[in-house]
Amino acid sequence: MAQDDLQLMRDLVDNQPDGFALPRHFYTSQDVYEHDIKAYWNHSWIWVGHVSQIPNPGDYFLFDYAKESIIVVRDREGEVRAHMNVCRHRGSRVCTEKQGNARVFSCPYHAWTFDLSGKLRGGRAMGPDFDPSKYGLFPAQIRIFEGLIFVCASEDAPPIDAGLSELQTHAAPFDFANVKVAHEASYPVPANWKLALENYMECYHCAPSHKEYSRSHSLKDPAEMEGLLEPLQERSCAIGLKTEEVNQTGTDSAGPAADVYWRRYPLFEGYQTGSKDGQPLAPLLGTLTGFDGGATDMQIGPLNNFLIYADHVVGYRFVPTSLQETDIQIVWYVRGDAEEGIDYNKDDLTWLWHVTSLDDERIIRHNQEGVNSHRFEPGPLSDMEWGILTFYHSYLAMI
Ligand code: FES
Ligand code: FE
Repeated sequence: MAQDDLQLMRDLVDNQPDGFALPRHFYTSQDVYEHDIKAYWNHSWIWVGHVSQIPNPGDYFLFDYAKESIIVVRDREGEVRAHMNVCRHRGSRVCTEKQGNARVFSCPYHAWTFDLSGKLRGGRAMGPDFDPSKYGLFPAQIRIFEGLIFVCASEDAPPIDAGLSELQTHAAPFDFANVKVAHEASYPVPANWKLALENYMECYHCAPSHKEYSRSHSLKDPAEMEGLLEPLQERSCAIGLKTEEVNQTGTDSAGPAADVYWRRYPLFEGYQTGSKDGQPLAPLLGTLTGFDGGATDMQIGPLNNFLIYADHVVGYRFVPTSLQETDIQIVWYVRGDAEEGIDYNKDDLTWLWHVTSLDDERIIRHNQEGVNSHRFEPGPLSDMEWGILTFYHSYLAMI
């Protein structure tokens, strides 16, 4: 980043008034975008998948963001590992298939060959002094939380372990380790990644923008939620859930981008899960003994969000592909032994968050269009947008 730009950005960060949206530069500058990737994304935990996607040694998938690509693979010993997908010879992508099963990773350029643990086996015609042990694939950090895989491209990843153990007892009854992917979808939006993430971090927009969601979920209106919360907690207890909230975000987190959050909130009467008619969509997760008519917001690091119903989980991430292009990636998980067509129907399962994501794509797109105008001036945030402030807290600290 040019010195001038860096100084401009420092000034913007220093002068960012509390309780206001960020200025236009943060969403329109190529320099800021590149700095975001370097300083924020490369140093954050990113949820990339689930262990059920790579059950056997050699199974792998790629996770890409911005200009980065990470190979997530199960090695010969059964360990899940993550390697930067960059050859240590002259930098080619080592792996070019999105997913598959590999015995080794052989670079398509000059055939340097890496084993599943990332070690270089040898380079062709490199001479007697060549030491392959110096040229293994660069590792990415990895954490597995209840089967969900998180990676971080840098060595100083946010200190998330204490937060994860705090979440563990809350998550245990859902047995995420034994879910499977029912469906994955991607909703590309022509907007900066921060606008897409910020949109997810607040439900101020839910009432005006999401009629299907608002019919069944109380989150959009704190007043409506009030009277429903206590009866929900009784029902949640009865099916084996812990009801306390976990909120280690913003200034209460273990460090920038080490936020963890867990809160179960009520659906309206007649809704057991996030379905069109309120009826169950899939077999109960884990050890749950019934439906409580609730949904949990779980957040692990600012970039990874999950909505947990009694019978399915929906994961959301907002992956930057360029300055004003973001991929909204959504994954639906159901019980590992549930069979499509028998235990669940994919169209019914995905209906709510498909229609809701189409709404989100539209409102985020319009948001970026307005922010691009020379006349945009950041306005004050409402109390219902506190989630955005916790994101700014880590963002402004890390950039
Ligand atoms: Fe990979 Fe040359 S760049 S072997
Ligand atoms: Fe939304």
